[in-house]
Amino acid sequence: MSDLFDKIVSLSKRRGFIFQSSEIYGGLSAAYDYGPLGVELKRNVQNSWWQAMVYQHDNIEGVDASILMEPTVWKASGHVDAFNDPLIDDKASKMRYRADQLIEGYIEKLRKKGKDDEAERVYARLVEALNADDMPKALHTIIMDEEIRSPDSGAFDWTDVRVFNLMFETHVGPIHNADNRIYLRPETAQGIFVNFHNVRETGRQQVPFGIAQIGKAFRNEIVARQFIFRMREFEQMEMQYFVKPGTQMEAFEAWREKRMQWHLGNGIRPSKLRWHEHEKLAHYADAAFDIQYEYPIGWQEVEGIHSRTDYDLSRHQEFSGKKMEYFDPQTQERYIPYVVETSVGLDRTILMLLSEAYREEDIDGDQRVVMKFHPKIAPIKAAVFPLVKKEGMPDVAHAIEADLRQSVNAFYDEKGSIGKRYRRMDEAGTPYCITVDGDTLEDGTVTVRDRDTLEQVRIDKDNVVRFVQDKMRDWQPID
Ligand code: GAP
Repeated sequence: MSDLFDKIVSLSKRRGFIFQSSEIYGGLSAAYDYGPLGVELKRNVQNSWWQAMVYQHDNIEGVDASILMEPTVWKASGHVDAFNDPLIDDKASKMRYRADQLIEGYIEKLRKKGKDDEAERVYARLVEALNADDMPKALHTIIMDEEIRSPDSGAFDWTDVRVFNLMFETHVGPIHNADNRIYLRPETAQGIFVNFHNVRETGRQQVPFGIAQIGKAFRNEIVARQFIFRMREFEQMEMQYFVKPGTQMEAFEAWREKRMQWHLGNGIRPSKLRWHEHEKLAHYADAAFDIQYEYPIGWQEVEGIHSRTDYDLSRHQEFSGKKMEYFDPQTQERYIPYVVETSVGLDRTILMLLSEAYREEDIDGDQRVVMKFHPKIAPIKAAVFPLVKKEGMPDVAHAIEADLRQSVNAFYDEKGSIGKRYRRMDEAGTPYCITVDGDTLEDGTVTVRDRDTLEQVRIDKDNVVRFVQDKMRDWQPID
């Protein structure tokens, strides 16, 4: 694990962004709780997504479907039969890896060493293996042929590659048998597909239109040791866009562009994002790209954009016996719409924002850790401090805080030196700190300190709310 990654995990706990689940009992692996700052970050990301997807498109409707669904849904979607990870164990360390990711890591290493031809050769083999009838065997053969060693122990002592289904099972009612088995949804998308007609009719939508949802998903990830990158309980923000067959590539390209712009609009630097085309297309998909971010653990997927044809709706028609067709009133045609899906992990977005924001800076010989979040994402937008706890300064500061709280999340702090209070807010990523001092009592002005530039300006205390709002709107990353 990288140094930066460890620092982010440690800051997340120290400052109340993210805690290990059930920590007092020793913790539950791959499950995390969002603390007071983390939950604000999460809400801001959800709002930014909902704003961009639902409010900015009059042809996209929102839903909030249940986590538990009639189990045939997962037969129809293919998850019961084919939602498997190929896994391999290092016999020496007992560590378990995803075989395809082990090979990807090896390819990345070859590239870093400048062995591009070799990397291309192994990559071609990986693509072939992922599409092979006996995929586990094909992946195992590559690991053996290339003598790929265990990243942790360095050993070359592997088990066979085996596949595991990732769905969590539970039972409805008191009796536990196969007849009342039910699954925790492994993706939110199916809650959208099964509601296709409900939403279309009640929203009076015509194709093309979309349905958006934010919600929990569950996967029994076998290899899960990367903080909130790979969790067993996580949150997805998904949108299914229903289009006329034949027009899907146009919609696919348009959504690719919009989704990349969303990440950039949240303050992610362009150099930290890239496109990755899927090596293996699901048999029903006709295009699939991931947006990858350069996490401290390397380039990894944060979002998938998939052109899923009419697979899901057709399968639900087949398994439910209900027509999933759409009648086009303009052309008088009847068809099952094709679907372009955008699917972004909320927790992976949070990890990306934490990684992007984390900076260590030297200020006149003093080290500061500062989280340079985009202000619209920052958990606290403004903090208000009285210079000292007397002479009426706390009252003035509380009044400014109350004003700010009408529109943004604000914070009041009177403990410790001003320098310490600034440092605490830097770690929380608060973009603006307002100090009430002796001059405030004389002329009604306060100091506003900018988190990024450290510039301090004096403004009238009655203009603080407007000043903060203007600054937030005009914010630009400074490096
Ligand atoms: N409906 C399509 C779908 O679920 P996916 O690529 O399996 O596609 C979409 O998942 C996104 O969900 C990923 O890009 C990732 O951000 C997030 N995700 C998937 N598994 C995750 C996990 N175990 N922990 C955290 N996020 C996960």
